[in-house]
Amino acid sequence: MSNNKRRILVTSALPYANGPLHLGHLVEYIQTDIWARYQRLTGQECYYVCADDAHGTPIMLRAEDDGITPEELIARMGREHRADFADFLIAFDNYHSTHSPENRHYSELIYRRLNANGHISRRTIKQAFDPEKGIFLPDRFIKGQCPRCAALDQYGDNCEVCGSTYSPTDLINPISVVSGAAPVERESEHFFFRLKDFQDMLKDWTGGEHLQPEVKNKLQEWFDVGLQDWDISRDAPYFGFEIPDAPDKYFYVWLDAPIGYMASFRNLCDRSGIMFDEFWDPDAETELYHFIGKDILYFHALFWPAMLDGAGFRKPSAVFAHGFLTVNGNKMSKSRGTFITARTYLDQLNPEYLRYYFAAKLNNRVEDLDLNLEDFVQRVNSDLVGKVVNIASRCAGFITKRFDGLLAAEMHDAHLYREFVAAGAGVARCYENREYSRGMREIMALADQANQYIADQKPWEIARRGGAETLLHQVCTTGLNLFRILVTYLSPVIPATAQRVETFLGCGIINPGGWNAIQQPLANHRIKPYEHLLRRVEASQTDAMIEASRKTGAIADRTGPLAADPVAATISIDDFNKVDLRIARITEAQRVEGADKLLKLSLDLGGENRTVFAGIKSAYPPDELVGRYTVVVANLAPRKMRFGVSQGMVLAAGPGGQDLWLLSPDPGAQPGMRVR
Ligand code: MSP
Ligand code: ZN
Repeated sequence: MSNNKRRILVTSALPYANGPLHLGHLVEYIQTDIWARYQRLTGQECYYVCADDAHGTPIMLRAEDDGITPEELIARMGREHRADFADFLIAFDNYHSTHSPENRHYSELIYRRLNANGHISRRTIKQAFDPEKGIFLPDRFIKGQCPRCAALDQYGDNCEVCGSTYSPTDLINPISVVSGAAPVERESEHFFFRLKDFQDMLKDWTGGEHLQPEVKNKLQEWFDVGLQDWDISRDAPYFGFEIPDAPDKYFYVWLDAPIGYMASFRNLCDRSGIMFDEFWDPDAETELYHFIGKDILYFHALFWPAMLDGAGFRKPSAVFAHGFLTVNGNKMSKSRGTFITARTYLDQLNPEYLRYYFAAKLNNRVEDLDLNLEDFVQRVNSDLVGKVVNIASRCAGFITKRFDGLLAAEMHDAHLYREFVAAGAGVARCYENREYSRGMREIMALADQANQYIADQKPWEIARRGGAETLLHQVCTTGLNLFRILVTYLSPVIPATAQRVETFLGCGIINPGGWNAIQQPLANHRIKPYEHLLRRVEASQTDAMIEASRKTGAIADRTGPLAADPVAATISIDDFNKVDLRIARITEAQRVEGADKLLKLSLDLGGENRTVFAGIKSAYPPDELVGRYTVVVANLAPRKMRFGVSQGMVLAAGPGGQDLWLLSPDPGAQPGMRVR
């Protein structure tokens, strides 16, 4: 390894300060933390910074709901996030907030420079406004009927049923999710970042080695569609930073969020003497990496490099995107108890299990990964406990009891030891390239070799036979030295266990540069008696975690839906009587080629058959539906959809996706009966 230290600044995306961290978030923080720990372990100068993303309309409204100020809300969430991160052993060099003086400073600075360089334009646009609440509404805060397929209860930007995208002003019967009022259109002047000014630079930059290959393809699509101006302002009232010289105009949360990376680093520099400019000047020789999820690529691969470039700062060395977490093969769901918060996990389980499991699953591509809880239990027990920890427990007793805790001067198999050291180069490459799953496989293959060595040498038999004390001593010394190497290789993933092993073996492992210490085996060296390093996971623990998540999910749902989906405007009984609701029996249910969310249902209405397309595919396998009774809007005008004509609508409750519950009558109701 060269003596030239690399100088690296690495970040993870800043979590929103309006909710708790969940296991999906942790994919990213664990992925980044392993990488940063690996860099420090090999002696690089590596800083890992992050912050809470504290601005925006959702945070403003959430604080209002809770009857506190946004400042109080973000202070509370900041404390919770920090505690969760600390308990998951995420070793930030700094954790800050975007609602900070440093962030205000850099946001204003970058904006002023972009403005001075002609990259900001202004124009008046029309937007949905909540007349009751007196605020402009983000798309996600407007719901109504899809303009294309008339599905009810769709968000302002796209329809979950037919997949079309549109603007909130196209919705039929739109309502504000905040107040239930019908939004009105209102004009206001907005500030735009002229992304197109950077088209050539971005084509060049995104064509280089800064992005994963599959991300480059995605970007090509965006270039083909054409780069659009980006709306970076929001009107008061807004929780954020006011735009300089523009009263009542605020920076959109996504403008100051990535600047939060700089702000957090600045805050670190100010109390540690690191030179900020060496990491942000346009000609900086240091490295800058952003770990993010695939959902926020546009911001990090286009807007952010353009903002940096336009304001005279360096651009990232690379942006690393990961996929999304599913649990037991499905999107995390509150009702299934698989929406697991960081805290609910920690209440039951050791954080290192999850760190190891994610490492065993992560690669450097933008692929989703699944937390399968059975596999989780099995993998942690067989790898960490069965293979790794086992080595120490099989060798240490003899050293303590027979050799007064002192390792032998020589190993019995120095050759095997050298092989283990040599294998470090491959493991290092895996960490560096974020091929963790491959790295874990390589480490476990070494662990298998070490166990095989012990099984072949049978120290317990040597001990029973007697008369070969030196051999016994040297075999156990070899085993423990191999164990030390394995723990060193695993230490970015399981740092707390590594720390316990440091105490046990009486040698540094996770010190800066500790990766190289294994060149020198431990000889004539005193160790402590072996103590338990890592317990087995029990399935009862993961069961308890799911049960606890289901409970908190249910509580959230009890206070959730009405608030998220307020009761619509009053109608008269005559209005209601216009709706002809009937009991229907589902006689057939089929998937629809090319439709993600739809099932094609054949319904028996008691003498009349109907075909209805329903957006319930993610909630019900078609087979489960056949024979079921439900409720249908029988006099809804037939709707022509892409896949055929829908003659009515079946009724279901819930937000959508998997969380959807079809209505059914009590037994006895017959097809065709009217429902009132
Ligand atoms: N606040 C923005 C990021 C601003 S960065 C300048 C944000 N916050 S977030 O809380 O929604 O997400 C934080 C990170 O967690 C993002 O990178 C996001 O992709 C990631 N994840 C959130 N849910 C996830 C999964 N279910 N699975 C994997 N990663 C997930 O976006
Ligand atoms: Zn639709």
